[in-house]
Amino acid sequence: AITAPGGLLEMGDFRAHLQPRQRNTHKGRFGSLAVIGGAHGMSGAALLAGRAALHLGAGRVFVGLLETLSVDPVQPELMLRSAIDALAQATTGVIGPGLGVSDAALDILRRITSADFSLLLDADALNLLALHPVLAARVAKRTAPTVLTPHPAEAARLLSTTIEAIQSDRVTAALEISRQFNAHVALKGCGTVIAHPDGQWRINPTGNAGLASGGTGDVLAGMVGALLTQGWPGGSALSCGVYLHGAAADALVQAGQGPIGLTASEIIPAARRLFNDW
Ligand code: APR
Ligand code: MG
Repeated sequence: AITAPGGLLEMGDFRAHLQPRQRNTHKGRFGSLAVIGGAHGMSGAALLAGRAALHLGAGRVFVGLLETLSVDPVQPELMLRSAIDALAQATTGVIGPGLGVSDAALDILRRITSADFSLLLDADALNLLALHPVLAARVAKRTAPTVLTPHPAEAARLLSTTIEAIQSDRVTAALEISRQFNAHVALKGCGTVIAHPDGQWRINPTGNAGLASGGTGDVLAGMVGALLTQGWPGGSALSCGVYLHGAAADALVQAGQGPIGLTASEIIPAARRLFNDW
């Protein structure tokens, strides 16, 4: 049931929020983001999201890991913390990359979803919502902006259906998740569908098959989190993040660095370059 006209996502959908930085500014103006995830053996997912958030201008990024690590040697600017401590420091949240579905993961998901701040849920945070309908109902009642970034399998779990059913009508699926959770939704994959609670939707024209490799979704989550923590409204942050993530991959392919062998880490500096040009 498509209730409002859609179309292709374009820069005009979010251009009003692109702002140059003032000379005398300081990091306190650009938010404090908690990225929660990284269970045993999956810390890389949370670190990728955190690195991506730094490269799109988040003021401070706390990475709350479910397993203990003291420093990201590639990105020492990231403040690695326990999940609880990262949450305590943050004004915005991203939860899901490498989170797992343990009791500890469920506990931190319950806490972060009751926080009154902009929140992006990805990956195992979405799988946990599908497993816990009472929690899902509470997420739907949040008043602060909620952003969901399911891939087709995660979307199928959220709607208790099959991947085939999701893929056969991606716009309807994205709109349905958006309505059920009162959230801005990106149904990822070739031609990511963005759906908003007011019934608006868009199809993202950027991106390519180079993005079909592990970790690119984690990078997207961090990019959108960076915009949220800098004060962007949920729908604009998601639209810009999705468009920019794909455009960065397109620029890398133009430069001969993909699609074959393109890595998620390479998206991060490519997105930063484009974002500073816009
Ligand atoms: N064309 C354009 N974009 C694509 C294409 C394609 N052919 N393939 C993938 N993408 C984009 C998607 O739109 C999305 O932005 O790449 C990203 C992939 O994100 P995910 O599917 O979340 O993949 P990723 O997170 O890297 O790895 C999957 O994470 O969600 C968990 O449990 C899940 O283990 C799984 C892992
Ligand atoms: Mg993913």
